[in-house]
Amino acid sequence: MNPDRDAVHDRYAAAARRALAGKGTGLLAGEGDADRLGAVHYADAELPAEVTATSLGCGNPLAVAELKAGEIVLDLGSGGGLDVLLSARRVGPGGRAIGLDMTDDMLTLARRHAEQAGVTNAEFLKGAIERIPLPDTSVDVVISNCVIALSSDKPAVFGEIARVLRPGGRLGVTDILADDTLTDAERAARADAVECLGGALTADRYRTLLHDAGLVGVDIRLTHETGDKLHSAIIRATKPVEVVAMTAEHADQVLAIHQAGLDAGRASFETAAPGWVAWDAAHLPEHRLVALGSAGRVVGWVAVSAVSSRCVYAGVVEHSVYVDPRVQGRGVGQALLAALIDSTENAGIWTIQSGVFPENTASRALHRRAGFREVGVRERLGRHHGVWRDVVMIERRSSRVGT
Ligand SMILES: C[S@@+](CC[C@H](N)C(=O)[O-])C[C@H]1O[C@@H](n2cnc3c(N)ncnc32)[C@H](O)[C@@H]1O
Repeated sequence: MNPDRDAVHDRYAAAARRALAGKGTGLLAGEGDADRLGAVHYADAELPAEVTATSLGCGNPLAVAELKAGEIVLDLGSGGGLDVLLSARRVGPGGRAIGLDMTDDMLTLARRHAEQAGVTNAEFLKGAIERIPLPDTSVDVVISNCVIALSSDKPAVFGEIARVLRPGGRLGVTDILADDTLTDAERAARADAVECLGGALTADRYRTLLHDAGLVGVDIRLTHETGDKLHSAIIRATKPVEVVAMTAEHADQVLAIHQAGLDAGRASFETAAPGWVAWDAAHLPEHRLVALGSAGRVVGWVAVSAVSSRCVYAGVVEHSVYVDPRVQGRGVGQALLAALIDSTENAGIWTIQSGVFPENTASRALHRRAGFREVGVRERLGRHHGVWRDVVMIERRSSRVGT
């Protein structure tokens, strides 16, 4: 069941007009609403109280978006502008925060709030979240607070998010999800009522639609109940990065990521990354790949070394994969391994192998997802910073080469 767009528009236009007249939005007045929705999630926000008071959200997407200086952030359904203004402060003068809303009165309210707060790197655009008026790959982060559930065409919204995000860009939203047990009759009742939440998706459907739109690393967590069979949730996803062949131009960034991985102490027995000449000599010239994030920045790399010169091992390589710690957990490693598997299988290689420290559970999970199996544990294989460490041996045997 899809929400009625005119009803949604009229409800929020009226709320904005009341707020503009200094009477508050008049929403979230039901029993317990104020404990679960709106301003309650912004106790520490450093903005005028009248701005915070107009929050109609179901969480705080900024708590999950991990904004960085210089980023471009887009807020879908920006309402009174609270999340846009907070984002603008986080990304600083070198960044920009854009609010998108279909309701003129909400845009007027948000612009007034920006002026009151003295925020100059924020702007508010009129438009529908199903047809975002921004160019392809122009945004680093999409946030949204309690809006996508209101859309009558959610596949279009997710498609537009995937279109405007840069490769490696991310989605961090809060939204209302429905229990699997919500019946059609209950949905109809909610659509008739002012909540307009008859179209709230289940977590499974949300995940499927995000995947269908081409987003990866989808993570959905229910946070609190917001109504009968309705939950607030935090949803994160990433637009896959572009994986391209590594060239000498990438060398400095590759070595910096290598060193960052070694510094974390979970990647290798080595403690210092080699110089480029040594790195170059240690890896085969083929199957060297980098993942590119925003503005063509290298965010990870993968490469292989020969295991042996004996011809029986001609189809066996040992790989290393390193992801910039700032973007870990966002699908970069997955994209690199998928591209490596493709590249090596096309060249007739049947086994990719490596070793991982047992404590590196993230790497073990990543490799399992890419089809690697854990062959066994080599105990006390070597000393790392003076401590004997075990290594889990992993391998991926191709099912299409050397069968
Ligand atoms: C529940 S309010 C949330 C506002 C804001 N995100 C917040 O947290 O306070 C929903 C907002 O989304 C806007 N909206 C709803 N559906 C929309 C659509 N399809 N396109 C653009 N804006 C939409 C409404 O005008 C309203 O301002």
